[in-house]
Amino acid sequence: MSDFYKKLLDNNKKWVQETLESDPNYFQKLSDGQKPPLLWIGCADSRVPANVITGTQSGEVFVHRNIANMVVHSDMNMLSVLDYAVNALQVKHIIVCGHYGCGGVQAAMSNKHIGLIDNWIRHIKDVYRFHHVELDGISDNQERLDRFVELNVIEQVYDLAKTSIVQKAWSVGQELHIHGWVYSIHDGLVKDLNVNFSSNLELPDVYRLDKFQSIDG
Ligand code: CO
Repeated sequence: MSDFYKKLLDNNKKWVQETLESDPNYFQKLSDGQKPPLLWIGCADSRVPANVITGTQSGEVFVHRNIANMVVHSDMNMLSVLDYAVNALQVKHIIVCGHYGCGGVQAAMSNKHIGLIDNWIRHIKDVYRFHHVELDGISDNQERLDRFVELNVIEQVYDLAKTSIVQKAWSVGQELHIHGWVYSIHDGLVKDLNVNFSSNLELPDVYRLDKFQSIDG
């Protein structure tokens, strides 16, 4: 067995021991159920762990991560997590968190053929197309990539607001706030992009869903 792999199991035993020393009821309390106030949609990047960044504990954050923190409206995985978080767990907040130096966003800015992932990256390229005037106007490559990361998060927050799941919650008066963040892997700080939705009123009209109606009604 490799040392790295063995260490993972050793670390787990050590963590259980230390945790029980500081709170003998820790696991008992968690096993009663979860009621996290937050759904986190973040990048799969190993340097952006939701709990560590936000100083939260087990039981506080429901997490979905994928390459470049995307909200793709046909992604059954994301939709299932979102549906469960909003309707069963009744989270009050959803944060889409991107990060500077995101490899997925960087790949979207290039023309390299990588493989299957090209199909996922294509969704990020759409964001570039929507904002090409602003992005093409930034001559510095690093600055352009940083702004692309921010715009990608903003678009994902909009895509989240457009989902039937989020709009249904708002239409029945459920409290649900959605936000966009960018994390800096250089200094650990989060930038709040101030793209906050608490209703569908700020969505372009064509995406707005009114109260649910039966299909023939
Ligand atoms: Co990333």
